[in-house]
Amino acid sequence: MANVVVENLTRVFETKSRKVLALDKVSLEVRSGEVFGLLGPNGAGKTTLIRILTTLLLPTSGRALVGGYDVVKEAKKVRGIIGFSSSSERVGFDFVTARRNLWFFSQLYGLSTSIANRRIEELAALLEFQDQLDRKLYTLTTGYRQRLNIARALINDPLVVFFDEPTNGMDVFSAKKVRELFVKEAKINSRTMFLATHNMFEAEEICDRVAIIDKGRILAIDTPENLKSSLSKPVVLFETDVAGAQIDDPTQLEGVVGGTIRVDDENETAKIRVILRDEIFLEKILDILEKRRVRVYNYQILEPTLEDVFISQVGAGFAERERSVEV
Ligand SMILES: Nc1ncnc2c1ncn2[C@@H]1O[C@H](COP(=O)(O)OP(=O)(O)OP(=O)(O)O)[C@@H](O)[C@H]1O
Ligand SMILES: [Mg+2]
Repeated sequence: MANVVVENLTRVFETKSRKVLALDKVSLEVRSGEVFGLLGPNGAGKTTLIRILTTLLLPTSGRALVGGYDVVKEAKKVRGIIGFSSSSERVGFDFVTARRNLWFFSQLYGLSTSIANRRIEELAALLEFQDQLDRKLYTLTTGYRQRLNIARALINDPLVVFFDEPTNGMDVFSAKKVRELFVKEAKINSRTMFLATHNMFEAEEICDRVAIIDKGRILAIDTPENLKSSLSKPVVLFETDVAGAQIDDPTQLEGVVGGTIRVDDENETAKIRVILRDEIFLEKILDILEKRRVRVYNYQILEPTLEDVFISQVGAGFAERERSVEV
């Protein structure tokens, strides 16, 4: 069953000076038991879509259903069956214990105290913070506070849970715990776990399906494996001396669909990662680099990543996109 249905959803932000098309006719469906990732660079429209699906923002046009309810016309019903957590929000009461904070949130959903207490223990066990439950919130480390934030989103046993950059800024161990929980909650409790992220590793590792989004448009939706294997073009990494960084736009090179250039100041090298239209262009690029007096130390054909899928569509990587888009 599709727990999230989005049809031609558009959102325009109009300010005095400019008009931003944050979502441009987005359509997608997410089923029960799926971990779904919305992957895109800064300003892609991820938070805007999550805010609409969690009834915090109205769409300009189009339609969205969560658990079969319309997010505009049946907003109250939607709110009862969802959970939401954003890493950019600091929630909870500092001078109250973690347990009491979770209990407070459970009361917003009308849970009985006995059910709430059971849920709190279960979630704290899953996220391994039982020993923190009776501490006041302000004494918790950032990692535990973030785990509590994730637990809060699950307190009402929601059908669909939305997470905006859930592991952003989280320590490695907490992030691992949270990712494991996402998969468990989807598979064992058949929830829909809908997350916005610009972390490729996270998307590849835990998402059953990923939608790649840029400038409000969905570029592709599929399993991470299918997205990568659909990229039938070779991905080549050249390691050069810093002169390689002079080529600031790799798409100017013949046969290059898109790519990124990263300078490693410490080792005084440049890494030119390009997607080629065809392997025959490899020789040509080596010639061009030689003519430009760029020393190539090494080159190799790589397995594509989700970022390569993105690059093949827009020509540039996440970092380049983030620099070019005003957020
Ligand atoms: N309240 C607003 N008023 C005007 N423009 C907005 C508003 N909210 C978002 N935008 C614009 O809409 C676009 C999409 O923003 P959004 O926050 O959805 O992106 P995002 O994918 O969540 O990015 P990030 O990875 O930085 O969180 C951006 O161009 C942003 O500047
Ligand atoms: Mg965002």
